[in-house]
Amino acid sequence: MVPVVLAGGSGTRLWPLSRKSYPKQFSKLLGEDTLLQSTLRRFKSNECIEFAPPTVMTHSDFRFIVKEQMDEIIPECGPIFLEPFGKNTAPSVLAAAYHHAALNLDALLLVAPSDHAISDYEAFHASISKGLHAAREGHLVTFGVTPTRPETGYGYLNIGDSSATSPVARVDAFVEKPDIAIATEMVASKKFLWNSGMFLFKAKAIIQAFETHAPQMCEAVRLAVRSARRDLDFLRLDEAHWREVKSISIDYAVMEKADNLFAVRYSADWSDLGGWDAVWREASKDKYGVATSENAHAIECQNTLLRSENAGQKIVGIGLTNILAVAMPDAVLVADMSRAQDVKRAVDVLLKHA
Ligand code: GDD
Ligand code: MG
Repeated sequence: MVPVVLAGGSGTRLWPLSRKSYPKQFSKLLGEDTLLQSTLRRFKSNECIEFAPPTVMTHSDFRFIVKEQMDEIIPECGPIFLEPFGKNTAPSVLAAAYHHAALNLDALLLVAPSDHAISDYEAFHASISKGLHAAREGHLVTFGVTPTRPETGYGYLNIGDSSATSPVARVDAFVEKPDIAIATEMVASKKFLWNSGMFLFKAKAIIQAFETHAPQMCEAVRLAVRSARRDLDFLRLDEAHWREVKSISIDYAVMEKADNLFAVRYSADWSDLGGWDAVWREASKDKYGVATSENAHAIECQNTLLRSENAGQKIVGIGLTNILAVAMPDAVLVADMSRAQDVKRAVDVLLKHA
């Protein structure tokens, strides 16, 4: 199985830590590894699964960060593809699929975002191996997490009867990023799982799905891969062809339309660190629900995240409830916990006034 690590996103909801030039997947949000590094650590071969060296898809601006962070973690690295422009996840996945299909049409690809927190590797491997059979049969396999809230930042998988015990269920519908009313309805119906963002399929199965549901991007992506140029440790996708490719996520381009989707009930711990509220949820906290970084101090606070990313800068919160405060050397965010998803608006505002 070849892990295809997606590491080219910009992560604007984690501003001011996540920047265009240094997005969240390269930061140490939780623990000693960066998110990219902890993603790579998951792919150690074991008795259930043999992992090939990962293929990494990223933006060309991030090439040295990626290489340096990979070298610290894994001895053997697969190709690192450089995208000249960010075109979202659909073209990235298709490019990886064309590359691997040229070597082996039946190669199993495990698409892995690099912005997730997963700590139990054994349970992760067990969940992935539950999808092997369906993927070998030529289906597109997703990994579904039981929802705990009406999150609007995720995709939803309708697997029908939630009392069924089979580890793999057919997906009747895939709904990407619904509005809050629909998300609330879906969670209440108990028929839906969250799409974890990981996918397992054969290279030829995903190529076929793109040819059916997004045929307009296939030729340009195929040519961008075929004309890719080696540059040191990297493979640069051809700029002229990549420019032609539409920017769209794999969820909208293929998953919402495909009729051969299956979902594994994903049973390991999982969190998309998509916003500061998620970072707060995953961080270790005191008994009042307060998470602080080394330079941060909380006095009579509750359910609050206080972080200073600057060794020389202290941050102190007094009497705060449900607050996110993150200080960087050049920018400070203070937000209500319930507005974590709106942080990307801060980036829009700053761009407008830049
Ligand atoms: N190489 C590359 N190029 N990677 C990209 C690009 C790109 O242009 N854009 C995003 N990525 C990477 C991000 O760095 C991240 O690791 C992964 O692809 C997913 O992109 P996100 O932008 O984080 O997606 P999302 O979180 O909004 O939504 C996806 O994940 C959710 C769960 O985490 C969807 O698959 C949802 O359906 C899903 O619920
Ligand atoms: Mg994400």
